[in-house]
Amino acid sequence: MKKVNIVTLPGDGIGPEVTAVAVDVLTEAARQAGVEITVTEHLFGGCCYEKNGVPVTDEILDSCKQAKIVLLGAVGGPQWDNLSADKRPEAGLLKLRKELGVYANLRPIQVYPALAGASTLKEEVIEGTDILIVRELTGGIYFGEPRYTSEENGDPFSVDTMKYSRSEVQRVARVAFEAAQKRDKRVCSVDKANVLESSRMWRKSILEIADEYPDVELSHMLVDNCAMQIIRDPKQFDVMVTGNLFGDILSDAASMLTGSLGMLPSASLGGENGLYEPVHGSAPDIAGQGVANPLAAVASAALLCRYSLHLESAAQNIEAAIQKVLESGLRTADLYSEEPGTTLANTHQIADMLLKTVSNKEMITHQA
Ligand code: IPM
Ligand code: MN
Repeated sequence: MKKVNIVTLPGDGIGPEVTAVAVDVLTEAARQAGVEITVTEHLFGGCCYEKNGVPVTDEILDSCKQAKIVLLGAVGGPQWDNLSADKRPEAGLLKLRKELGVYANLRPIQVYPALAGASTLKEEVIEGTDILIVRELTGGIYFGEPRYTSEENGDPFSVDTMKYSRSEVQRVARVAFEAAQKRDKRVCSVDKANVLESSRMWRKSILEIADEYPDVELSHMLVDNCAMQIIRDPKQFDVMVTGNLFGDILSDAASMLTGSLGMLPSASLGGENGLYEPVHGSAPDIAGQGVANPLAAVASAALLCRYSLHLESAAQNIEAAIQKVLESGLRTADLYSEEPGTTLANTHQIADMLLKTVSNKEMITHQA
């Protein structure tokens, strides 16, 4: 059997609980597709800081670069909130993204029919929503220089820099165009070109390459309007491409279309590297209780199969298992609302059903 080594970084809070489920499901789905997954696990984020004084070490970064495929849980917690900027768990995450060069962050927003009632938005508004947010991940205001805090006439001030170069914009735009070619062939580029220089560069750079994708319809939208349109009529979007900060904010807003932030997976791609992480955070308030929703982590493992292992069948097997769980009515607390036909479940019960469903496919295949 072909062997593939991946690195896992379970991290903090509920990270370890959801990553454990994702690894089990991934291992089983890959095995059926003829690939044996081996796992190298490292500390990352707050727990790494506790042991090493930094949220990520050079050795851990090297190990990730070598494996090229990384599955991450979540980082952060209140006990690390007052650390200096470079020691915070989030700094480790930003460094990892930058060092791996994973500039394109794919965040698919899909409404599972079984969950359409779990959203705070009206069912008829969200049902059928299928958006792919492509967020630029290694540039923009998250990384721009200069960045500092100083003082002027006794008044302290801080500076961040939103900077985008043409090449940075065009490479992530290409990911969006290519994704659109495999979907509904529409790209909406989101910016603030009525105010920001960096957004005017963003728009111009995308227009320069749009001709290379004649089969894809390109539109532009200002980010404030986009925030409103996501809530008003999410079905109008196919692929959305935007900068680092705008993508961060819009993807949290869009997550509520699916019923819970706990449902959203992500894949961050660049060159041969892939970093897979649920969009939700470490949820320290429920950590260690065995009640976390593992579905975003598991869906991230499906994306890992699709984009890094090129095992589309394994990806679909995992995604079908998620659907099956939701259709069975099992719900972790974040999704549970006493709706008839639903049952409150813990992480373990969800994991159990996922694994049974994923392995069951093997029986069906063998019988066929
Ligand atoms: C995300 C998170 C991160 C981000 C934080 C934890 C640094 O909010 O992945 O969306 O802002 O990118
Ligand atoms: Mn975010």
